[in-house]
Amino acid sequence: MKKQLILISALIGASVVTSASGSEEESLGKWITTISRTKEVKPVNNVAYAEECGACHFAFPPGLLPIQSWKKLLNPQALEDHFDENAELDADVLKSIQEYVFANSSEKSYHKRSRKITRSISKGETPLRITEVAYIKRKHHELTDNMVKENEDVSSLSNCNACHTQAEKGVFDDDTVRIPNFPEWED
Ligand code: HEC
Ligand code: HEC
Repeated sequence: MKKQLILISALIGASVVTSASGSEEESLGKWITTISRTKEVKPVNNVAYAEECGACHFAFPPGLLPIQSWKKLLNPQALEDHFDENAELDADVLKSIQEYVFANSSEKSYHKRSRKITRSISKGETPLRITEVAYIKRKHHELTDNMVKENEDVSSLSNCNACHTQAEKGVFDDDTVRIPNFPEWED
């Protein structure tokens, strides 16, 4: 069993849990968690980021954009005029957020959605929105304005967590989607 798990881990590139002391069952649990998380997007695990970048909207996991996009978004000039809002940060806070985001951007991640996002962006392209990434656009192409812009409980495709009930956990799987006010899309 252990051998198989190590092999799976090596294949998906997840870090190997080395603790030999825990019970077999406990480490199996950890493996399963690691593997299932690797399928989706790494959830936000940085307090400064969650607070500052979750103040106006859902705190987008860094694995939803490549580093070149984050570099354009996360600098003092850009943050002063961030989608028509002022989102400027103290220099030290910005530095710690940059370090966290750059280290966890999509091309550094082995998580399934992050890999798909990276692959769908062509060389030299720098999307400033997750919702402009080809993979994300493709996944939502069937949604109508009635469901998104004109839906008062959604209003923008950027509000991932209005429909993705487990977005905070980094889970975007279609089994966990609901569209407010569209009963056929409720759970
Ligand atoms: C003062 C409010 C405010 C703060 C603080 C803020 N944002 Fe935003 N952000 C916005 C608005 C408004 C939009 C545009 C939303 C829309 O179009 O519906 C946006 C959009 C975005 C988008 C694009 C989403 C898409 O459409 O794909 C990203 C990425 C983003 N913000 C990242 C961040 C990060 C990272 C931080 C922390 C440094 C941050 N934001 C802090 C207001 C804010
Ligand atoms: C208006 C509701 C809504 C919003 C807002 C929304 N989505 Fe979705 N999303 C959906 C629906 C519906 C699907 C497709 C489900 C299906 O195909 O059955 C989907 C599919 C996806 C998928 C593919 C899931 C799969 O299993 O293939 C990803 C990834 C995703 N969304 C990410 C995002 C991200 C990131 C955001 C925010 C930037 C977002 N979505 C905003 C409704 C939404």
